[in-house]
Amino acid sequence: MSPILETKSLTKRFGGLTATNNLDFSVGAGELRCLVGPNGAGKTTLFNLITGKEKPTAGEVHFMGESISHLPVHEITRRGIGRKFQVPNVYESLTVYQNVAVAVQHLLPTAALFGTRVAAEVGNRIGAVLHDVSLSDKRAMAAAYLSHGEKQWLEIGMVLASAPRLLLLDEPTAGMTSEETKKTVRLIRDLSARQLTILVIGHDMQFIRAIAHKVTVLHKGQIAAEGDVGEIETNRLVRDIYLGKR
Ligand SMILES: Nc1ncnc2c1ncn2[C@@H]1O[C@H](COP(=O)(O)OP(=O)(O)O)[C@@H](O)[C@H]1O
Ligand SMILES: [Mg+2]
Repeated sequence: MSPILETKSLTKRFGGLTATNNLDFSVGAGELRCLVGPNGAGKTTLFNLITGKEKPTAGEVHFMGESISHLPVHEITRRGIGRKFQVPNVYESLTVYQNVAVAVQHLLPTAALFGTRVAAEVGNRIGAVLHDVSLSDKRAMAAAYLSHGEKQWLEIGMVLASAPRLLLLDEPTAGMTSEETKKTVRLIRDLSARQLTILVIGHDMQFIRAIAHKVTVLHKGQIAAEGDVGEIETNRLVRDIYLGKR
């Protein structure tokens, strides 16, 4: 698999603290990768560097063969990196459908929205996204009335509306019931089966096991281990890191 995303000697310092430490990390096109590591390992910072929210102290991020480190957030989004944050960020008073519509509109020049052909295409896109995230039957409901899990799916839908090539999910099952977690795992696997490249930060091993793909363990801003779930679970170093022995 040729890499779609690569970090090259990527470093991010916050004052005296090194959150990302000379990191060479890569994800293949079409891959589903889990990123784990204890609190403070630098997982979210890595997402911030990939999406342009933070600028590196040194090193670079390459996406589809080009350096993107110098680009503003919206340009990185436009190039195909979509991100869902840890905390749901939906418009509570708008309907489910309208939330996705807002996300789609951000991508179109305003004039295009007045063309009927474009309007029909946008409608189709919204319908497809709602189907993907299993919210078709709640399309007319105000987002405020959705459960926590449904809000998370709506937000994933809002990211999918931009048709990303790389989807970044930061702890997508945080605060979910076990039923919601299972459904989220299914959604991630479905999306992955369609060639979308996905990088997902997880915290609990059960979720990682259910996703069952290659895992990268971050520790102190560096890769501590990389391999399939079984290897990672039996890795002594990884166990020590999680038990706080290193
Ligand atoms: N904007 C910031 N300013 C100062 N320190 C930060 C900032 N963002 C992250 N950090 C620090 O960088 C380290 C890595 O944080 P983070 O990437 O959020 O870890 P993780 O997501 O793996 O829990 C932590 O020690 C955190 O306190
Ligand atoms: Mg984090």
